Amino acid sequence: MTRKNTLQLGTFGTNLAPGITFTTIPGALTTDWSRVRHLALAAEQMDFEAIVPISRWKGYGGEHNPHSDAYETLTWAAAVGAVTTSARIFATVSMPIVHPVMAAKQLATIDHVTGGRAGVNVLGGWYRPEMPMFGGDLLEHDARYDMADEWIEIVRRLWTEPEEFDFSGDYFELSGLFSMPKPLGERPRIMNAAMSGRGLDFALQNSDVIYVKLRDDRDAAAEQVADIKRQARERFDREIEVWTFGYVVDGETEQDAQDFLHFYAQEHGMHDAAINALTIMGVEAAVAGDNSTAARRFNWVAGDGGVPLVGTAAQVADGLEWLADVGIDGCLLGWPLWEEGMARFERDILPLLVARGLRAADPH
Ligand SMILES: Cc1cc2nc3c(=O)[nH]c(=O)nc-3n(C[C@H](O)[C@H](O)[C@H](O)COP(=O)(O)O)c2cc1C
Repeated sequence: MTRKNTLQLGTFGTNLAPGITFTTIPGALTTDWSRVRHLALAAEQMDFEAIVPISRWKGYGGEHNPHSDAYETLTWAAAVGAVTTSARIFATVSMPIVHPVMAAKQLATIDHVTGGRAGVNVLGGWYRPEMPMFGGDLLEHDARYDMADEWIEIVRRLWTEPEEFDFSGDYFELSGLFSMPKPLGERPRIMNAAMSGRGLDFALQNSDVIYVKLRDDRDAAAEQVADIKRQARERFDREIEVWTFGYVVDGETEQDAQDFLHFYAQEHGMHDAAINALTIMGVEAAVAGDNSTAARRFNWVAGDGGVPLVGTAAQVADGLEWLADVGIDGCLLGWPLWEEGMARFERDILPLLVARGLRAADPH
């Protein structure tokens, strides 16, 4: 696919309440299909490249239990795919939960619905509390990716092999495997956010897009991105993109933006739930950083731990330019108040990105 924009953009988590910001303020995201549809169309209006949901089957508890109210992502992607025309529509699939035969066929279906715009964000899994609902438990960390190797091989073969085949592995023993129709074109694009050694190896071998939690220092972040791309090239002969995600809080002045951040995340944030989520993630996932710091917790409440893009329109554009400068290919975005936030992004921030050469002049 030819790449039009230096910094690709997408939305993150429009399938669940309250989106990627853990806030109780009125207007925060709800599971309301008319809103999901509107936000998908708003993303396409700005020529965003990707629409990515979050896979969540149980919330993070606390008083408000954020993410307990979540649309299932494969059916969601089919529906979003049917009302959109240009963005790539991702489903997020937790490999320990969704059987590969089911995933392969559902994703091929979405690929047909969208005319070849399907993608899949594959997860090794880390949120243990939702596993007993499916009658199982999470494997030990590295074994999750041994299982994932088998899972993805089965899916890829189902997408390409015309005849029935058997698969015999450590985790799957399946016979007469078959799936039609095949996806259109090459295959659905695969993304993954594994950050650990074993998880990263899986991602380098299998993903077209890898997500990173960037280091703060510019040189260190640039080296981090370059290293991932270099490893993909040298070890696996693959060209991959590196993306990240962030939350946008813009204001007339920097102080306005900071005040609003304080209002929705500090005064009306779901802090107890963020502590629950980070505690579990700290045990289960090899994500860099200290989960116990107040700053880390605040960043989870403010935007699911993403990059803070907070300030005036120009400062938000600076933040996005910084990402492009360190080699990031794309960034998923979320807002505390999605409808107004995306409208302001289109009006105030997108033109700055165009002026800085990060986005094409005319989206259409
Ligand atoms: C862009 C992005 C999307 C993610 N989506 C989900 C998700 O939908 N559900 C989920 O449980 N975790 C999600 N995660 C968390 C990752 O799965 C988690 O950070 C990863 O498993 C940790 O890597 P490791 O397994 O190598 O330790 C996402 C992370 C990122 C950066």
